[in-house]
Amino acid sequence: MNILPTGGAMVDHFALSESLSKLGQGHLLAGLDHLDPVTRDAHLARLAEVDWQELHHQLAVHTAGEVSGSRVVDPAERDRRAGDLEPLGESAYRDGRVAVLMVAGGQGTRLGFSGPKGCYTIGHHSHKSIYQLQAEKVLSLSRRVGKAVPFLIMTSPMTDAETREFFAAHGDFQLAPGQVRMFSQGTVPSLDQQGRALLEKPGKLLENPDGHGGCFTALVKSGQLERLRAEGVEHIAYIQVDNITVPVDDPLLIGLAVAEKTDVITKVLEKANPDEKVGHLVRVGTHDCIIEYTELTPEQTRQKNATGEMVYRWGSPAIHCWSVAFLTRLASAGYKLPLHRSAKPLKAWTPGPSGGSVAEVKGWKSERFIFDLIPEASVSLGLAIRREAEFAPVKNATGVDSAESAVALASALHASWLAKAGVRLALPAGARIEISPLYAATERQFLAKWDNRIREITGDFYLEEERQARG
Ligand code: UTP
Repeated sequence: MNILPTGGAMVDHFALSESLSKLGQGHLLAGLDHLDPVTRDAHLARLAEVDWQELHHQLAVHTAGEVSGSRVVDPAERDRRAGDLEPLGESAYRDGRVAVLMVAGGQGTRLGFSGPKGCYTIGHHSHKSIYQLQAEKVLSLSRRVGKAVPFLIMTSPMTDAETREFFAAHGDFQLAPGQVRMFSQGTVPSLDQQGRALLEKPGKLLENPDGHGGCFTALVKSGQLERLRAEGVEHIAYIQVDNITVPVDDPLLIGLAVAEKTDVITKVLEKANPDEKVGHLVRVGTHDCIIEYTELTPEQTRQKNATGEMVYRWGSPAIHCWSVAFLTRLASAGYKLPLHRSAKPLKAWTPGPSGGSVAEVKGWKSERFIFDLIPEASVSLGLAIRREAEFAPVKNATGVDSAESAVALASALHASWLAKAGVRLALPAGARIEISPLYAATERQFLAKWDNRIREITGDFYLEEERQARG
């Protein structure tokens, strides 16, 4: 039996070779003799660490059980209960029972930007980055409630160093010392179309971040979940870095979580049409879950329940409120989110003459999805939101869900606040309105603060934090 030292740990080479071969990954041990000892040991240690079985898993199909609508707090119920719920949410913020978690570990391949998506410049007039916009929302909330709301940011090995440098270079965007808490998610090997793990270079697996669902394990492993629990944080408002209008100041959401003792609340929006490509919040049997549009036929997406309501009515923009107690319970039970495969072009190294070469190959990325936690919840609710107020995703370089479309949506939202305040808007095509989160991060804050300094806007308009604006 050949035992190799690996930075303190030992790898049983024989057992590893046996198990890798059984799983069709034997090729990963080829050419070990040509590697320098440090690379070889690190490679073997990683091969021994990977859960190869789960990479070859079969996914459970959600549609086992009767599909019906989830319990969703619709706009009418929101309005009716706002007066009761919002004070509960306010108290939770002020007592330090709420944290914000932003996932920012994705590779942003569709955007085609070389750094982390959060570093992308998005402010039309301010030229602020996405990170700055999101951080300023947390700052605005913290100032409003008089409490440094913990701002957890999940990075990945692909975005961690640059994200840390970016925040450090900008003084954490004025957030309090220790308020920003970064932790990195894990990675999983990327596979070729036959399910064989690929290499990035000799002696190094090609890996990808393990999906937004990686935040569950990463929260636990990094000690962040336990820290929140020990601090008395009960609710985690989950956002994704690339939704630039997502609010973090939402007393109604938090109040609903408090009042209904939810394990999870999923914000939902009325689908634009039955074929819209989103995940749907539905109830399967006795538990809520998200069913992706890819899992449904056109007939299924049009299915109605006994009262004539569309079963797949509510789309998910990936905004949740998780209970710390629920996540802690799952962690204690050793719960692990499953992996989902999706076909992607990948840049992999292949051996060959003169040291091999890197080329684009078709393969599989495997990822965990955060919403797979929902079926584990005993108390799950949907909360209807207005799409135009909370959802402006930056996914693609151009067209739908691009930086340009997101900026246009944010501009339209801010224009609507001004219009509500009685400002006449006569905007030429392409004019952009931008309101800094440090002036107002929500419509309510804006309306409370707006001083009628302008009666009409006929072109580009930018509103920055009050003390800077007055200079
Ligand atoms: P997407 O699924 O849209 O992926 O992520 P992406 O990486 O941003 O972009 P593409 O698909 O490569 O073009 C939705 C959110 O989940 C985060 C992203 O940072 C984004 O906020 N995410 C995604 C992670 O944090 N980790 C991951 O492994 C994947």
